[in-house]
Amino acid sequence: MSNSSIVRVSVLGAGTVGSEVIRILMQRRDELGARAGAELMLNKVLVRNLNAPRSVDIDPGILIDDPEVALDGADVVIELIGGLEPAFTLVKRALQQGSTVITGNKALLARHGPHLYELAEEHNTDLYYEAAVAGAVPIVYGLRESLTGDHINRVVGIVNGTTNFILDQMASTGAEYSQALSQAQAAGFAEADPTADVEGHDAAAKCAIMASLAFHSRVSIEAVSTEGITTVSAADIEYAKQSGQVIKLLAVAERLQGKIRAEVFPALLPLTHPLAAVNGAYNAVILEGEAAGRLMFYGLGAGGAPTASAVLSDLVAAASHRAHGGHAPRELCYAALAVLSPEQIPVRYYLRIRVPDTAGVLAEVAGIFSHHGISLETVRQDHGDREEVHIGVTTHEALQGDINAALEALRKSEQVLSIDSILRIEE
Ligand code: HSE
Repeated sequence: MSNSSIVRVSVLGAGTVGSEVIRILMQRRDELGARAGAELMLNKVLVRNLNAPRSVDIDPGILIDDPEVALDGADVVIELIGGLEPAFTLVKRALQQGSTVITGNKALLARHGPHLYELAEEHNTDLYYEAAVAGAVPIVYGLRESLTGDHINRVVGIVNGTTNFILDQMASTGAEYSQALSQAQAAGFAEADPTADVEGHDAAAKCAIMASLAFHSRVSIEAVSTEGITTVSAADIEYAKQSGQVIKLLAVAERLQGKIRAEVFPALLPLTHPLAAVNGAYNAVILEGEAAGRLMFYGLGAGGAPTASAVLSDLVAAASHRAHGGHAPRELCYAALAVLSPEQIPVRYYLRIRVPDTAGVLAEVAGIFSHHGISLETVRQDHGDREEVHIGVTTHEALQGDINAALEALRKSEQVLSIDSILRIEE
């Protein structure tokens, strides 16, 4: 490992983000180096296929396809391969050899973050991951450094651009989910396999990272109660519009009952909510600090250049520490707060229930809610076709466990034909 003020940087992966990191690093090497107080040298670039066309010219002398030698001589390793393997193995090895690691890999951190932090500590090196949450938006620095003097109570955000784009398309065109997904794929906003985004896993990984940082506790992705957007219908979106609301996929992490509430779910938001105006592929996160009050971060959460911006910020900090000493913040999990079980979370819902238009049906539906201790805030019955009608209800706050039990009873009731909408309401 180098002890001089030359910092050798290896980049693992030269896809959309990796190529932009390399392009900007080559273009702004002197400027970034001046900020770090070190000379930044591109050491090796690991790619899958040496001959694949790329958007950036990389010296063939440093381009390699052998993971075994990718880490040789690197002071700083930037992991942009994504996924769990081989990223996990390479990041572990990089830390074990004392290299500083910068990664944008939220899945890796959400699953193995504590282990990687421990390895970094054991080998007296650092782990940086600004790019793992909300691309260019500096939310990791915000939580890990800028607000470390405050007591954070709540983090709520839109942290997945793909789903935000799809929900937006549904709202502006009236399309069903599957059509809007195809449009997002055609426009390059959704992956061919969109599972991680649309099922909420990507947002859950980011939620786990934000919750861990905000509450100084270990929150794994498995602990985040997660629901994606695949069941949101055009009728749900229409209901939202008509009632002055929008539907957004939210990631929420907050202190509640001495524990952590960590959730990802599609929610109805009033148009006056600051997150309601976050459209297209944009991300936004609101942090609530006891002293700072409410702060909102907004910007591009994905894409080559915005994500490269976050990676290169980490690189300047990492190179400065390599050259002049000092460390990135360590993992702080002293608070060791547990995650609240989903059943214990207080929630509000809008439900649209299809029933036969006969005597006693409304009483039966109301009785089921009452039996489970759920108070209704509003009840509205649409004009039916004399055979069946829709009853739309909004609930007051109730425990998710009680809502689940009521939903089960409604489904079993002979007076209920179907439950066509089940939507969370977030204030
Ligand atoms: N797929 C993510 C999104 C970006 O759509 O926001 C990377 O986390």
